[in-house]
Amino acid sequence: MKKVAPDLDVRVWPDQMGNVADIEYCAAWLPPPGVVKSLPNLKVIMSLGAGVDAILKDPTLPHDIPIVRVNDPDLTGRMTEYIVLHVLMHHRQQRRIDDNQRNKIWDSFPTHAARELSVGIMGLGVMGVDSAIKLRDIGFRVAGWSRSLKDIPGVESFAGAEEFDAFLARTDVLVSLLPATRDTDGIINRATIRKLSRKGPFGAPIVINAGRGRQQVSDDILAALDAGELHAATLDVFVPEPLPPYSPLWTHPRVTVTPHCAADSDPETICAYVAANIAKHQRGEKLKNLVDRARGY
Ligand code: NAP
Ligand code: GLV
Repeated sequence: MKKVAPDLDVRVWPDQMGNVADIEYCAAWLPPPGVVKSLPNLKVIMSLGAGVDAILKDPTLPHDIPIVRVNDPDLTGRMTEYIVLHVLMHHRQQRRIDDNQRNKIWDSFPTHAARELSVGIMGLGVMGVDSAIKLRDIGFRVAGWSRSLKDIPGVESFAGAEEFDAFLARTDVLVSLLPATRDTDGIINRATIRKLSRKGPFGAPIVINAGRGRQQVSDDILAALDAGELHAATLDVFVPEPLPPYSPLWTHPRVTVTPHCAADSDPETICAYVAANIAKHQRGEKLKNLVDRARGY
């Protein structure tokens, strides 16, 4: 913050807070319960990431203070890289090729074109739309599911609970870029997996979760893999994080575990974003990317 906004009086919790009555803006990622409430003159809460579940879960969070979340091309671009990488990794069977190389096996198995794989993205928000467009441009058949219908050329749009099953039925690779809310908790479960398409080139679907760990029922994913109902999974998010060493997800041969790194908030970029929002607020301008607390995202 000192680099991007040298004139701002920045206090760091917990040791450099000084008189908390001076503090008007709070930038936070995992604020311990009660810290935000302890700031009597707070005007805006700035999330240091796109997801705000960790901020909203504080039961003492004041109800009347706006929350701004991150919507920045740097963060979105990182997520798109991750989603494209993992869709392509499964599509091109890169893990099988890696295993073969380790064992010096020249196994030139048949490959297939991107158009043969249907990718379905749950959450067509800032991140989901960008990933959908890039995957569409590679040639995958892409659809998205959100609360409201979208109009994105070449991307099929499904919305609401009533269109969920139709969305799943056409999806070979299910990607989650949903926020963690009451409605999305546990959405990647055995019943959801069973409704996915089995017409794709692998005969069973693939799951990629870069939303939040609360969205996946890990035991259901493992059972579905072992029963042949799921071909493979890439998981970036877990409950709890870090993923404990005893979790069978670490060693399952068809699970790829990544350490919540799909889209890291770059400190300098995010500080510049926060500083720009503070300046905007001080000029009396309307803030964008405000969280709707009733929706939970
Ligand atoms: P966003 O712009 O708020 O988009 C959220 C999308 O989810 C919207 O399309 C929304 O529908 C949809 N949605 C929410 N609740 C739904 C429900 N019950 N049913 C169907 N659709 C629902 O958020 P974003 O910036 O794209 O970020 C998405 C999430 O990615 C974040 O909340 C965070 O959890 C996760 N994330 C993870 C990482 C990582 O490193 N793994 C990094 C950044 C973000 P509408 O469009 O109709 O409102
Ligand atoms: C990271 O998980 C984010 O929500 O930005």
